[in-house]
Amino acid sequence: MKCKYCSRRGEVTIPYARLTLCKEHFIEFIQRKVLRTIKRYNLIKPGDKILVAVSGGKDSITLLQLLSEIRKTINYDLYVLHIDLGIGEYSKSSRTLVESYTKQLGLPIIILELKKILGYTISEIAKKLKRPPCSICGIIKRYLFNATAIELKATALATGHNLDDIATFILKEFFAQNLTGIWKLQPYNESYKDIVAARIKPLYETYEEEIRKYAEFMKLPYMQEKCPYYKPTTLDNVLKQKIKEVEEGFPGITIGLIRRFIKNIDKYPRPKTSFLKCRICGLASSGEKCSYCKLTEKLLGEPMGYKTREYIKSLIKELK
Ligand code: AMP
Ligand code: FES
Ligand code: ZN
Ligand code: ZN
Repeated sequence: MKCKYCSRRGEVTIPYARLTLCKEHFIEFIQRKVLRTIKRYNLIKPGDKILVAVSGGKDSITLLQLLSEIRKTINYDLYVLHIDLGIGEYSKSSRTLVESYTKQLGLPIIILELKKILGYTISEIAKKLKRPPCSICGIIKRYLFNATAIELKATALATGHNLDDIATFILKEFFAQNLTGIWKLQPYNESYKDIVAARIKPLYETYEEEIRKYAEFMKLPYMQEKCPYYKPTTLDNVLKQKIKEVEEGFPGITIGLIRRFIKNIDKYPRPKTSFLKCRICGLASSGEKCSYCKLTEKLLGEPMGYKTREYIKSLIKELK
């Protein structure tokens, strides 16, 4: 079959849009789609300072390439954040890849090495605290994302979450009937004073399969391997797989869910918009101490939030 827009051979079929496209027109289709998402939800404005969190996986590498490209249309500053979790060869290769690709794009990068900040890697912390690595990793990454965006005075932190991720989270929260949790799954989450940074998800309306194809056509360098702690049997991963199967039978059902979700957002209860300040580090917390300060106190006998913020501040100073 031919491309819908030119005489070249069609290389991708997009069932939900009933489109067959050549490589060049598919690339254009994705670039336009992400720009449209950014404009539709007002994710980035001229003059913004965006910090993009890049793990080295296909989603965040694609996001980085697209945000670098879109800077030609909307004029904003772009900074890269990579967290080196110290998970053996996996983290080493991810870090090298993100560093060299960022350099190629000529963008500033902040690399946070966990071993340097806390003296331990994710694997060591999990062992010491006898907790699953992924839950520890989640708490630490969330904290470092927020702290870096705050110290950099970024307008927003961008992550590579895609349409399949969001649909998975919506269903997961729906099963748990955590309706305020669902509220947070919007493409834009606003900041709160100087303790919570705004977050944006520019790949909100882009299917994982589309990102995979785009990365392949653009020959983007990305980590093929998954984190060694990845388990296909977790609820998230099983749900995601099922959603993909349903999408195959009913093309467009996932993007339909997201669109209707956004339309209905006011029907979901708003989570409370006031936060407490962590007594140690001054960032957002649900109690006296934030999860990062509690976790590091258990690990080292001393809560590390304040020192971590100071360390990030010193790295940012070196950037300029
Ligand atoms: P995940 O929770 O691993 O699915 O990652 C979600 C998003 O968080 C990715 O798309 C990235 O934007 C960001 N991210 C995950 N891991 C890292 C990391 N080690 N360094 C920087 N950003 C990351
Ligand atoms: Fe966090 Fe694998 S990336 S445990
Ligand atoms: Zn074409
Ligand atoms: Zn704290």
